[in-house]
Amino acid sequence: MKPINAGLLGIGTVGGGTWEVLNRNADEIQRRAGRAIRISRVADKDLKKAQSLVNGKAKITSDAYEVVRAKDIDIVIELIGGTSIAKDLVLEAIRNGKQVVTANKALLATHGNEIFAAAQKKGVMVAFEASVAGGIPIIKALREGLAANRIEWIAGIINGTSNFILTEMRDKGLPFAAVLKEAQKKGYAETDPAFDIEGVDAAHKLTILSALAFGIPMQFSKAYTEGISKLTQEDIRYAGELGYRIKLLGITKRTDQGIELRVHPTLIPARRLIANVEGVMNAILVKGDVVGPTLYYGAGAGSLPTASAVVADLVDVTRLITADPQQRVPHLAFQPDRLAKDPILPMGEVETACYLRMRVQDRPGVLADVSRILADSKISIGAMVQKEPGEGESRVDIVMLTHRAIEKNVDAAMAKIEKLPTVLGKVTRIRLEELL
Ligand code: HSE
Repeated sequence: MKPINAGLLGIGTVGGGTWEVLNRNADEIQRRAGRAIRISRVADKDLKKAQSLVNGKAKITSDAYEVVRAKDIDIVIELIGGTSIAKDLVLEAIRNGKQVVTANKALLATHGNEIFAAAQKKGVMVAFEASVAGGIPIIKALREGLAANRIEWIAGIINGTSNFILTEMRDKGLPFAAVLKEAQKKGYAETDPAFDIEGVDAAHKLTILSALAFGIPMQFSKAYTEGISKLTQEDIRYAGELGYRIKLLGITKRTDQGIELRVHPTLIPARRLIANVEGVMNAILVKGDVVGPTLYYGAGAGSLPTASAVVADLVDVTRLITADPQQRVPHLAFQPDRLAKDPILPMGEVETACYLRMRVQDRPGVLADVSRILADSKISIGAMVQKEPGEGESRVDIVMLTHRAIEKNVDAAMAKIEKLPTVLGKVTRIRLEELL
């Protein structure tokens, strides 16, 4: 059978890895796919870099539109990233009847509904395994492996850079900025590192997982997003003393009122497997009603791990290219005309336990005032620690773990506590999940 011709848009970190994997494992890939898969065209702004990698084995251009319109291309691999040019190129590729493989989580989370509708209409596939958690085949697992289940919730460490930063801060006491630089050097971080640190990248990925888990459209704009930039060494240490680790989690959960879609630093019991996922590694815990909890672990970023997912999609698309479009696995796991209308729950309505830290003056009655405010807001305290004041210090840290409470009640209580004259500065709130 004649080889499948792929056109690669962007031969950077992941594109370079994809080129390498297709060459390195060419025989094995052909045995799996039933046909050879080769990249016959490459588009990149840096022609010199592209030339040195490709070494005459593919046509190179700086005009990506040339690739998406080329008659001889069967599959377009979009690894440019971003949401503007990439969107145009993907839609143009679809219009030209190309199959698409993309690692672009931002694009799918924000424009996925439009892209999948266009692909459906044209009868082409848009495969996106590499868009979430790099090398972990979580899209395949959710869409196919867990198809018997009603998914109850997903909780994932889905941003390698922030997990790397939290790990290094805890283990080595390193400052935030130095660790971020290291992650950038290793090619894990997004072009705009705020996407990693402020939880945006994780929210993009979570939006995709949520759509696949619950059969709902992509709704990134409704995701609650809070990053790790305000976390302090003290919070990491206090959480450890209480038997917890702090991880940036993406959580999506089905409730009677709607679907939770939230990314924020979270205390999780240190004894959970997922609490021990360190460095740039990713892990996703999926709770299905039939199978129970399942955990997926692996490298969530980097050249070869992400290329592993891109090439898996190339094999998948190659195998399915001749199948009737109606019989293929639907892009978002559920049939496109059967998507659910469940609302995304506003963050104020979400119920979680919390870690609250406040700095107070060490005086009689302070704790009583704080407890009263919490009690009036129907927030029950599960555990409390008052740290010893330092030598000659009159200010102490109080750390409380609350039972589950509605977010808006906690917000109101925090505002009242911050108004107490004996409470200094802001109250730090980190949500807590037992993940059972
Ligand atoms: N910046 C991302 C991360 C890369 O750190 O996980 C993979 O999407």
